[in-house]
Amino acid sequence: MTAKVKIKALVAGNWKMNGLKASSKEVKTLAKLIAKASKKAKCDVLVCPPATLIPALKDAAKGSKIAIGGQDCHANVSGAHTGDISAEMLKDAGATYVIVGHSERRADHGETSEAVCAKALAAHRAGLIAIVCVGETETQRDAGETLSVIAAQLAASLPKGITAKNTIVAYEPVWAIGTGRTPTADDVAKVHAAIRAALKKRFKAEGEAMRLLYGGSVKASNAVELMGVANVNGALVGGASLKAADFDGIIAAYR
Ligand code: PGA
Repeated sequence: MTAKVKIKALVAGNWKMNGLKASSKEVKTLAKLIAKASKKAKCDVLVCPPATLIPALKDAAKGSKIAIGGQDCHANVSGAHTGDISAEMLKDAGATYVIVGHSERRADHGETSEAVCAKALAAHRAGLIAIVCVGETETQRDAGETLSVIAAQLAASLPKGITAKNTIVAYEPVWAIGTGRTPTADDVAKVHAAIRAALKKRFKAEGEAMRLLYGGSVKASNAVELMGVANVNGALVGGASLKAADFDGIIAAYR
């Protein structure tokens, strides 16, 4: 038996399509809060704003331990893809992470797991850490298909040869996103245990050390319970990441 690997948690904020230049003030406030508490916070912190704000937020977060990420990327480096943004462009703007395969991208833009896999590869090509999202819909959950849906999404969305350093998996039940509803700690534990087992089987030690985030209506009031679940190594936070104080309340789960 190998010793249990210690995984440093990550609390990541996904601003989605929210935020104008003035929002960099939120990050300045957050950066200040984090800098003050940085000795105590045992997690990494990431903010993924709309791409338009990456440079401003990178600037606002200077000197703090907040990293900046993108919310999606195209699989190609450049070319005739109107409206898209490449992983290299995100990196150029100051990002070090990118979310791929968020359920809103899968639903709104018909992204398949194969497309998500190509995006994760693009992230790695550009030197970004890919946060690959998976999650079941309410219908799938009611039909008892949660674990099989997640297994299929993982198998097709994760590229070969990924490492614990370049990839993070986020479990986000679609029905819990933006609804205020969350699975029970037991349910989260079951899904995260299944994800961990699948990652270990396919990626061995890298899969054992990979960060697994939970996302879907995480807020300050439920963060301690959800972050305390086995195999939960942090959170992907939507709504509650838009206000520095709320987001800091979630980071506080790691103090
Ligand atoms: P939520 O969103 O925290 O607003 O539920 C989570 C997400 O979509 O990443």
